Amino acid sequence: MIVTIDGPAGAGKSSAARQLAARLGFRFLDTGAMYRAVTWYCLDRQINLQDEPAVADAARRMHLALDADRVFVDEVEVSHAIRSAAVTHDSRFVAGNYAVRKHLVDLQRRLAAGKDVVTEGRDQGTVAFPQAECKFFLIADPTQRALRRQSDYAARGEQVALEEILAHQTSRDQRDELREYGALKPAPDAVTVDTSDHDLAGVVSRLEQIVRERMRCAGERGA
Ligand code: DC
Repeated sequence: MIVTIDGPAGAGKSSAARQLAARLGFRFLDTGAMYRAVTWYCLDRQINLQDEPAVADAARRMHLALDADRVFVDEVEVSHAIRSAAVTHDSRFVAGNYAVRKHLVDLQRRLAAGKDVVTEGRDQGTVAFPQAECKFFLIADPTQRALRRQSDYAARGEQVALEEILAHQTSRDQRDELREYGALKPAPDAVTVDTSDHDLAGVVSRLEQIVRERMRCAGERGA
């Protein structure tokens, strides 16, 4: 079974998807980490992020491996490096690159083929896995999302002002929503969950309940 979780940055997707996957015994796929890894690679190799063909070549050339929460590029662990404010900020160029999106969606489908997966991103229910059995779209109040991002940075030792995070977040949301390919939007059959007033455990329990219900129905249909 494929479970997709899409939504804007800071809506709690990653934590919810990771915990949901653990509860269900499914594989967790963090597709944002893939866009981040390509961004990191280009910054590291001084590849101009606005040179779309060069970035697409780099994405195809680099060897990207995801192992649970760990991310490797050409066998080097970049799990921490891809969470920097610089990578977060510049990932927009990679997310807007059609050839890179196509390459990463192919990779996502290969990684999920024949497996039980919880996959998290922006376009998982719409583009990567339109046939997924269970789709969620997580949303949250913008200030709460910015506060979550701020504490993520603080945990890394980076102090970033809330106003700055809010400003970046607003422009990132607009870019994500207006993107020509893989735009951030709920699939028509997605269940929208507002995480603003719920703790993580509560959100995960609600998602788990819905997935288990779908699994039960699918099992009955198959029986
Ligand atoms: O979720 P995140 O902040 O780790 O995502 C990093 C970047 O990748 C961000 O610019 C949005 C983009 N992204 C995307 O375009 N499509 C996805 N499926 C996942 C992330």
